[in-house]
Amino acid sequence: MYPSEEKGFHKIPIIMNKSEQARKAKILDGKQVSSAVIGCVHEAIEKHVSMGGRRPGLAVVLVGDDPASSIYVQAKRRDCERAGILAKDFDLDASTSQEKLLDLIDRLNEAADTDGILVQLPLPGHIDETAVTNRIHADKDVDGFHAFNVGKLALRQPGLRPCTPRGVMALLHYYGIANRSMHAVVVGASNIVGRPMALELLLTGSTVTVSHRFTRNLEEHVRSAELLISAIGKPGIINSEWIRPGAIVVDVGISRQASGKLVGDIEFETAAKKASWISPVPGGVGPMTRATLMVNTAEAAGLDVGLPYTPQPTG
Ligand code: GUN
Repeated sequence: MYPSEEKGFHKIPIIMNKSEQARKAKILDGKQVSSAVIGCVHEAIEKHVSMGGRRPGLAVVLVGDDPASSIYVQAKRRDCERAGILAKDFDLDASTSQEKLLDLIDRLNEAADTDGILVQLPLPGHIDETAVTNRIHADKDVDGFHAFNVGKLALRQPGLRPCTPRGVMALLHYYGIANRSMHAVVVGASNIVGRPMALELLLTGSTVTVSHRFTRNLEEHVRSAELLISAIGKPGIINSEWIRPGAIVVDVGISRQASGKLVGDIEFETAAKKASWISPVPGGVGPMTRATLMVNTAEAAGLDVGLPYTPQPTG
């Protein structure tokens, strides 16, 4: 039984066709699990609203017209609708000054109908992202990027937590994968994914290695990983042949090939022959990131979503 079933998450039956049966790895199906998570958020919100509560509101701020960012933001706005969250759109010109953006954040920090503020990254080069993320009130920081919230996670007092790492943990937990005592290797040390991912894994008892651009022998680290999480965004950075037999592979990378096809960091078919579990791209971590944003927004509004995954800090 999936541990998550105990608390009302419904197990998704694993139905495999012939070619899927030939591959060894089972799929970490982020698309389906994220629907279950959004369902939990929706249920909690509708119950709250039916009892006279205010519907949670999320300010979604996009600066400029970067095509990838526009697509991500559209998907986040769609998920708000599915979850019953009011999305408030702020689409600003690429030339918007930092001062104007900070003014908007100040107003949203004060707005009683706004529970969460999301500023899509990356921002245009003339804007200091750290100044922006730290200007958002920590209680409305549904991205979990504010120094206060990252510090809380580092100190084993998780509050609002970065969406991708929290989404990865929920995905693993859903399938009953206990990472405690496992050697987890995180490839990439970004503020958005790699660093908070390492903190989540540490919080739940993994032994964690983080590799980054100055790491000398990536192959050696990958070969030793029981749980491998790649968050680089460069297809082929990890040779699938390096994957340890039976490893759990989570691919956070997402890149668009010239053909338009979306791919992860890790070549899927070869990796799936070696791994025991693997997340696909697309349909793996991406939808979990967005579903977790919905969870964070509901939690920022004071709701208990009843998500089964709660980190158990280890000693
Ligand atoms: N850009 C890439 N990932 C993210 C994310 O999780 N949040 C925000 N705000 N921007 C991003």
